[in-house]
Amino acid sequence: MQIRKIAFLGLLVYAFVGCSDKPVESKESTIEKKYTVEEIYTQMCAKCHGAKAEGNPMKKGPSLNEETAHELEISLYDLKNGGTNQSSGSSNEVMEHNMQKIIDKGMDYDPKEMAEYIYKNFNKK
Ligand code: HEC
Repeated sequence: MQIRKIAFLGLLVYAFVGCSDKPVESKESTIEKKYTVEEIYTQMCAKCHGAKAEGNPMKKGPSLNEETAHELEISLYDLKNGGTNQSSGSSNEVMEHNMQKIIDKGMDYDPKEMAEYIYKNFNKK
């Protein structure tokens, strides 16, 4: 009787561990896609570029509200690829560092989507 009880408990534990493994994994992958570009901008970008992309001199973040969606998209591709901006010759060290942090947090974004978000919501004209 005692042995059957233990075997039953063992089975329960096995079933529990076996089940709990998979949902945790799929939960993580939904979290990664859970953030909208708006949430990412507000949480990750606004502190350096301003809540309305007006720029933040304290953090040396340039304003992003005068660039076209296309210009922003090109800059964001550059930043994401981690290279220095060869066309302007400026180094993107500050941003590069930040991109890695963003990716580590599972807040990766599509440059085109982010560019359009910034342009549509913050562009001055
Ligand atoms: C730690 C401060 C900081 C954060 C956070 C930050 N940036 Fe920047 N960003 C900068 C600085 C400084 C520059 C200019 C120098 C450089 O390119 O590294 C810049 C440059 C840029 C440029 C290029 C601007 C141009 O005129 O070419 C874009 C686009 C940009 N950031 C978008 C973003 C987005 C989108 C996020 C959030 C996902 C973000 N930044 C987060 C500091 C930051």
